[in-house]
Amino acid sequence: MTDLRSWLQHASAQLNVISDTPALDAQVLLADFLQQPRTWILAHNEEILNTQLETALNEALSQLVKGMPLPYLIGHWEFFGLDFAVTPDVLIPRPETELLVETALEWLQDHPQRRLAADVGTGSGCIAVSLAKQVGDLSVTAVDISRQALDVATQNVAAHAVEDQVRLVQGSLMQPLQGRFDLICSNPPYIPSEKLAGLAVAKHEPHLALDGGADGLNAIITLLNDAPRVLAPGGLMLIEIESSQGEAVLDLAHEILPKYLARVLPDLAGLPRLLCMENED
Ligand SMILES: C[S@@+](CC[C@H](N)C(=O)[O-])C[C@H]1O[C@@H](n2cnc3c(N)ncnc32)[C@H](O)[C@@H]1O
Repeated sequence: MTDLRSWLQHASAQLNVISDTPALDAQVLLADFLQQPRTWILAHNEEILNTQLETALNEALSQLVKGMPLPYLIGHWEFFGLDFAVTPDVLIPRPETELLVETALEWLQDHPQRRLAADVGTGSGCIAVSLAKQVGDLSVTAVDISRQALDVATQNVAAHAVEDQVRLVQGSLMQPLQGRFDLICSNPPYIPSEKLAGLAVAKHEPHLALDGGADGLNAIITLLNDAPRVLAPGGLMLIEIESSQGEAVLDLAHEILPKYLARVLPDLAGLPRLLCMENED
């Protein structure tokens, strides 16, 4: 007979080889299987696992050890304090992207008359939904080229009851956007193709979400070129970037949009992460 604590120890030891957070991963998996909060698991770690559940958990554990990302295995993941459905058709929301949401929210707070936003490359919808949940009068048009990703986003928009605020549209980058937007957010695919080939994420997460072309900048360049058509005067555009792209994107922003005020903000690790451009016209 195995109690929760022993199973957690066993799982943690197995996950140690593939994860930086093995104990946490084991707790999240067990909590998901038992449909209990993680705090409950820790408070009840002497409970005995039934054999059927233990077999299923060990099967899930072996998939994790083989490299299956935990969010895909359990089918959901937390972003900005909210729970989002995820499937292998969408990028797993990353903590780095919370910087974009925080920056957007600060700007929205300072600009209460600016309530038309776009989220370009919405994936699971995590950015659009997080913004809509925080700012009740915000209207967000969320675009993705992938029908499958939009299906997941539709699920998340409904689960968080923001159907009145978030409109999902299929299309390429900002092409489907008509009129001007006060705030444009995008976490586009930005990993250089060659680099991507050697990364573990490429095995499980959609290439469409990650591959930014030879230098990783394809989508970013298109967004910058299209900004004058779509970003309202006085508006803000936020684009998440790869940490190595800080200087390159600033050069591009100055070259393509010389009249915009451009700066790059660092993430919590101090790495360049967010290109911010204000249309001061
Ligand atoms: C890095 S993921 C970001 C997903 C989500 N916004 C997030 O932050 O977790 C990029 C997203 O852009 C979408 N995408 C890729 N190329 C696109 C294009 N040309 N037009 C619109 N969306 C695109 C992908 O399908 C993917 O969902």
